[in-house]
Amino acid sequence: MDRKNISCAKANANIAIIKYWGKKDEKLKIPFNNSISFTLDAFYTITKIENSSEDEFYINDTKQDEQEKTKIFNFVKNFRNDFNQKIKISSYNSMPTAAGLSSSSSGFAALTLALNKHFNTNKNIDELSRISRLGSGSSSRSFHTPFCLWKSDDDINSIGTKVDSNLDLSMIIVIVNDKKKEISSNQGMKMCVDSSSIFEKWYTQANIDSLKMISYLKNNDFTNVGKLMESNTNLMHRTTLFCETPFSYLTYKTYKVIDLIKQIRKSGLECYYTMDAGPNVKILCKKEDSYQIYEILSKTYPKDRLILSNCGKGFEVWSE
Ligand code: DP6
Repeated sequence: MDRKNISCAKANANIAIIKYWGKKDEKLKIPFNNSISFTLDAFYTITKIENSSEDEFYINDTKQDEQEKTKIFNFVKNFRNDFNQKIKISSYNSMPTAAGLSSSSSGFAALTLALNKHFNTNKNIDELSRISRLGSGSSSRSFHTPFCLWKSDDDINSIGTKVDSNLDLSMIIVIVNDKKKEISSNQGMKMCVDSSSIFEKWYTQANIDSLKMISYLKNNDFTNVGKLMESNTNLMHRTTLFCETPFSYLTYKTYKVIDLIKQIRKSGLECYYTMDAGPNVKILCKKEDSYQIYEILSKTYPKDRLILSNCGKGFEVWSE
């Protein structure tokens, strides 16, 4: 029998409702502030690892360049002891890559889980979340669903932990641009750490926000969850405007979506916005209202630009 020994993992992407923006330790990817996320069922990465005669790395069947490959295989060292054991890594993203749609959060979480399986390293979830963080900070939050807190702490304790809530929420993503972003989140946050005159104000406030958010989630207080998510994303995006060389991820199209959300809210349907390192808008709402809000949005935006997602069901690991 042809036994291929392929190790596979699927992880959901997560969208921050309290943002991670700035590293106090670049190498270990330790953030200045706590962040909190919501996982998405519709956005995920599936990663397959098989033995091979040489190290190879593919995303959506496209061979990646030397720079990407080097980055990924440096990460593989967290699991591989025998350098002669070459592998082929094939990752499939359900969403556009590097467009501010959180592909790196599901990408590194799925890679971490698949490597743990392939090299039989048997690490627990806390260790996996920590190692995944070294690949991409936000991925440390993809190990718990639907809500996850990632703490600003030391190397061992800066990991994702589950946040209790009975809120049953959905997210609608309005894709106004699916092209790869010009300033990566890593570059953007570094520019803000280095030169934004409001950076200290940002992370001090974000740490306060994270504590408030945990309590709103525990109390199932959706209105305050939504309001706080908006004020937190607004402040994060303001940090970019106060850099020595100001920049913004948001465009005219982003603000058009925000206007529409405000109109929908006025009509009595609760929904709130957040944006990451790109112009696309993510709208948080109660699951029971999600279809109605999706239908209203679809009067302005074509349905292939709208993605309605429930919360992620949790990661999966298997072999083929
Ligand atoms: C704006 O996790 O992509 O989406 O740690 O450098 O890989 P690196 O950054 P990344 O940053 C995500 C930033 C954000 C906010 C968030 O997800 O919390």
